[in-house]
Amino acid sequence: MSKLSKAQYRTHQQACDLLTKDRLTEDDRWFVLENWQESARHVNSQAGAFFTPPMLARDFAIETCGPRIIDLCAGIGMLAFMAWNKSDWGRQPIELVCVEQNPDYVEVGRKVLPEATWIVGDIFALPNLGHFDCAIGNPPFGATPRAGTGPRYRGRAFEYHVIDVASDIADWGTFIIPQTSAPFRYSGQPHYEWRPGETYEAFRKQTGIELGANCGIDCDFHKDGWRGVAPTVEIVTADFQLAREARRPAQVDLFEAVA
Ligand SMILES: C[S@@+](CC[C@H](N)C(=O)[O-])C[C@H]1O[C@@H](n2cnc3c(N)ncnc32)[C@H](O)[C@@H]1O
Repeated sequence: MSKLSKAQYRTHQQACDLLTKDRLTEDDRWFVLENWQESARHVNSQAGAFFTPPMLARDFAIETCGPRIIDLCAGIGMLAFMAWNKSDWGRQPIELVCVEQNPDYVEVGRKVLPEATWIVGDIFALPNLGHFDCAIGNPPFGATPRAGTGPRYRGRAFEYHVIDVASDIADWGTFIIPQTSAPFRYSGQPHYEWRPGETYEAFRKQTGIELGANCGIDCDFHKDGWRGVAPTVEIVTADFQLAREARRPAQVDLFEAVA
């Protein structure tokens, strides 16, 4: 639990009061997303639970596609809510599934985004939820403790394990990860630079997943919006259909075989 300022405590309490209502208005939902403090009852640094700043989540939604979307490590649904908002509140077809291990966050998430299916659980032990058009997430970063692993990735970075899991259940992925795990630098830099590091290369070789850039979102614009941290992050995208093709054993070319 971190120490909240008086102002943060007051608005957090207001958010808690709103959460006692049976049904939240659109304004109520925004207020909760902006003011409910993830650290009020939890040591969020241990669980890597730093919620995405709302305006970064809104930019992130540009890179989501549907209609079937799964939010892995959903918190109170910041990213899923912005995808819902982008769908014009369900006027465009959308189905959202949010998976989060902390039941307190899920309780809040169910009020903020009752339109989603919420699952309290570990993303490394997912039930069969069917296939998704898009997987999204701002997972814990780096060596945050976890009970499971991705199917192929063998390193320490939590974010790569989540993306590895996502690549089996979705066709496309959009994730917030540390800039040092992205194969490029853009946020806070004078220009875009492709710079894949050794850990990324190991991830790519083990999983067949290539991470790509986004449409030009500089995450550093939102650096002040994080609570208790100010991470340098990037929004990465991934074509998981290509990754699955890359993982398939090389097929014998029939014409070559006959010749
Ligand atoms: C960095 S926070 C981000 C939350 C939310 N996605 C957002 O953007 O605001 C990561 C979340 O992952 C959750 N989490 C950590 N490990 C998990 C796991 N193995 N399965 C499901 N959720 C997990 C944490 O409780 C936390 O809410």
